Amino acid sequence: QIERRVDALLRQMTLTEKIGQLVQYNATQSHPAGTEKKSTAALNVNPPGPGGVDSYELAQKGELGSMLNAVGQDLTNHFQHAAVDQTRLHIPLLFGADVVHGFRTIFPVPLATASSWDPDLITEMGRTAAIEARTAGVNWFYSPMVDIARDPRWGRCTEGAGEDPYLGSVIARAYIRGYQGKSLGDRNSVAASVKHYAAYGAAEAGRDYNTTDMSDLLLRQVYLAPYRAAAQEGAATFMSAFNSLNGVPASANPYLMQTILREEWGFNGFIVSDYTAVMELIRHGIALDAASATEKALKAGVDIDMNAHFYDKELPALVNSGKVPMAVVDEAVRRILRVKFALGLFEHPFTEGPEVTRAVPEHRPLARRAAEESFVLLQNKPVNGKPLLPLTGNGRNIALIGPLADDAPDMVGAWSGANNFEDVHTLRQSFTEAAQQEGFALAYAKGTDISGNSNAGFEAAVAAAEEADVVVMALGESSDMSGEAASRTHLDLPGNQQALLEAVQATGKPIVLLIFSGRPLVLKWASEHVPAVMEVWFPGMETGPAITNVLFGKTAPSGKLTMSFPQSVGQVPIYYNRLPTGRPIQYPDPAHPDAYVEKKYVSRYLDESNDPLFPFGHGLTYTAFAYKDVSVSAQRVNASALMKDRKANPLIASAIITNTGEREGSEVVQCYINIRGASTEQPVRSLQGFARVTLKPGESRKVEFPLGFDELSFYNAKSQQVIEPAEYTVFIGGSSLADQAARFVTLP
Ligand code: IFM
Repeated sequence: QIERRVDALLRQMTLTEKIGQLVQYNATQSHPAGTEKKSTAALNVNPPGPGGVDSYELAQKGELGSMLNAVGQDLTNHFQHAAVDQTRLHIPLLFGADVVHGFRTIFPVPLATASSWDPDLITEMGRTAAIEARTAGVNWFYSPMVDIARDPRWGRCTEGAGEDPYLGSVIARAYIRGYQGKSLGDRNSVAASVKHYAAYGAAEAGRDYNTTDMSDLLLRQVYLAPYRAAAQEGAATFMSAFNSLNGVPASANPYLMQTILREEWGFNGFIVSDYTAVMELIRHGIALDAASATEKALKAGVDIDMNAHFYDKELPALVNSGKVPMAVVDEAVRRILRVKFALGLFEHPFTEGPEVTRAVPEHRPLARRAAEESFVLLQNKPVNGKPLLPLTGNGRNIALIGPLADDAPDMVGAWSGANNFEDVHTLRQSFTEAAQQEGFALAYAKGTDISGNSNAGFEAAVAAAEEADVVVMALGESSDMSGEAASRTHLDLPGNQQALLEAVQATGKPIVLLIFSGRPLVLKWASEHVPAVMEVWFPGMETGPAITNVLFGKTAPSGKLTMSFPQSVGQVPIYYNRLPTGRPIQYPDPAHPDAYVEKKYVSRYLDESNDPLFPFGHGLTYTAFAYKDVSVSAQRVNASALMKDRKANPLIASAIITNTGEREGSEVVQCYINIRGASTEQPVRSLQGFARVTLKPGESRKVEFPLGFDELSFYNAKSQQVIEPAEYTVFIGGSSLADQAARFVTLP
C-alpha cells in the first residue's frame, strides 16, 4: 500500500520537488514573524546558515522536506500549512529535534538510564517523550545514540548506553519500541533516528569528531551491534556520523550505508547526515567543493542533507549533467516518502489539542523511578559498625555541601530537550522538605563553584560539616561538560572541588559523596577516604526527590555500571570485554597450579594496576546477594545445527540467587561467556544475558538465560557471523567479575 502511494507520488514530482525532499533547514535560522518565542530556546541552537535563506519560502515552494529544531504547535503548523496547503503536491514536512532523554519532562541522561539495565523503563520513557513531543509538532527524534563508548574522555558517552554491545543492543531496541510504538502511524509515535552511524564513539583519544580506525571484526562484533539491533527492530531512520572510519568519512561511506545497512541488514528507511556533515567532506579532504561533496554523500547513501545547504544548491546541475543519475535521487526521495506515509503525515499533517509546554506532573513518577533505578552505589563502607547508607536513624544533623546541591541546570545534563529549568526539583529543595517531615536539622553550603579556583566558600562548608553528624556532598561536572564537543583529558572533579572534598573530609565527619557526571570520573582519592560514594549522573527533573528517597532508604539503589570507572586517565580506553593478550598480567605458575605469578614482561603498567576502580556491571544496594549452582543444560552443542537453524535448541545457563541481607532488594543478574579455541580471538568475557530480579530477605530464585545462535556466535576473519567448535565458559553473577562458572563445548 505505502509503496504504491510512494511510486504514484514520485511519478508526479519535478526534479526541484524531489530535491526539496532531500533538504533540511534549521528553524532557528529563520522565524516567521511572531513565532520566534514559540521555537525552542532550550534546544540546540546553531549558528545562522549561509545567505539567510528563508526556509518558510522554501516550504511554500515545495523545496523543503524537513526541519530541525522547529518546536511548538504554532511554529510547526505554520510551516506545515505552507508545505501542505500552498504546494502542488501537498507533501508534509518532518520536524526533527534532539529529544534525547525527555521532551519537557526530563529523565536522567541515557548513560544513567542504561545503568538501570531496565529496557521496559527505557521504552516507557521513550514513549512518554514521544507523547509530549507530538503535542508540540515534533514527529522525528534524533535519538537513540547507540555508539559504543569505551573512552570516558569522549563527552558524548553521556548520550549512549556505555561500553557493551549486548546491553547496547537491548537498549537500542527498547528506545525504538518506545519512540515508534506498535505502529509509526499511531499519532503518539515519532520516527527514531539511530545515530551516529557508525563507530563515532571510537573517536581517537576520546576527542570529539576525531578519526576512527578499526578492523572489520571489531566493527561488526562490537561497534555495529546496537545499530543492527535497531535496524532489526524497525528503526525508521539513521543519522550518518561526523567521523571518518578506516579512511572514509562516515557520511560518504558506501560500505557502511549501502553494503552493510541496506544490503546486509535490509534497512529501507532513510539516512540523514549529521549537522553540516556533507559540507565537512571538504574539510575531510575527500571532496574539493560543494558539488563533489554532494555527489559523494548522496551516492554513498545520505538521503537528507542536514543544514549544509549543499544538496539544494548542487543537485540540479549534478542531475542535469548526468553526474548523479535521476535513479539515485528517486531512491532517496522514495525512502523519505515511505517514512512520511508510515507516520500518517499525509492524513494528519497538523498538530491539534493541548500542547505540553512544561514538565507534566503525571510523568514525574516515571522520571523519579528512572532516576532512582539509575543511581549506582559504588561503595558503602561501615561507619560505627554498619554501612553508612541508608541514612535512616543515622544523623539528626545533616550538612548538604557542594555546587551541585542546588543547581537546576546542572542536574539535567546535556541535550535536555525543551525543558524549563524551573521544573527541576533540586536536591536542596527536597532535603529541605525532608528535614521538615523527618525532623532533622539541615545546613547547606555551596562550598565552591563547579569550575574555577575559588575557595571562598570553604570556611562555611567546613563549619557546616563540623556541626553535622553526617555530610552529604554533591560534587561533579556541569551539564555542558559532557555531550557534544565536551571531551576532557582530566577526569577528576573539576575546579576546586577535590580541595573542597579534602577540606570537609579533614573534619572527620562521615561523608556520603554524590557524583553528578555524564561519564566515568576518576574517583580514586574519594574511594580511599570517603565511606559512601554514589554515582547519580545527571538525574533530570526529579533529581531531589529521587536522591532523597534513596539516601533515606525509601527506595534502594539498584543501578549497575555500564562503563568501567578507571583508576587513572592513563588506563583509558578501559573496558571489561577486552581481548586476551599472550602475556597477561597474571598467569598460573606451573610449579604451583593454584598460584599466580607476576613478572616484568607481561602486559601491565609500571605505575598503575590494570584493573578499573569500579568494573562494568558493578553496583551495590542495601542488601546482599549470593550466587550458587551456576550450570548449563548441556555439555555439548552441535555448532553446525545451530548455524543452520538459528533458533534451534537453545542451551539454558542458570544460577540460583539468594537475598542474604535484611531488606528487599533488586539485583541485575548478569551472564557472561568466554570462548576459547575459535578461529578469531574472543573477549576474556562478554555479556550475553541479564535479568533484573527483586527478592525479599531470604528469598531465592533460579534465573535462566537461553543461549542460542545470537549469544554463542562471533565473527570470523571473513566477517561472517559463525559458531565454530570451541570451548565455552559461562559466568553468572552480579558484575563482570562474576566468578562462578560452568562449561560446555561446541562440536562440528
Ligand atoms: O542530532 C545532533 C547530533 O547528535 C550532533 N550534531 C547536531 C545534530 C542535530 O542537532
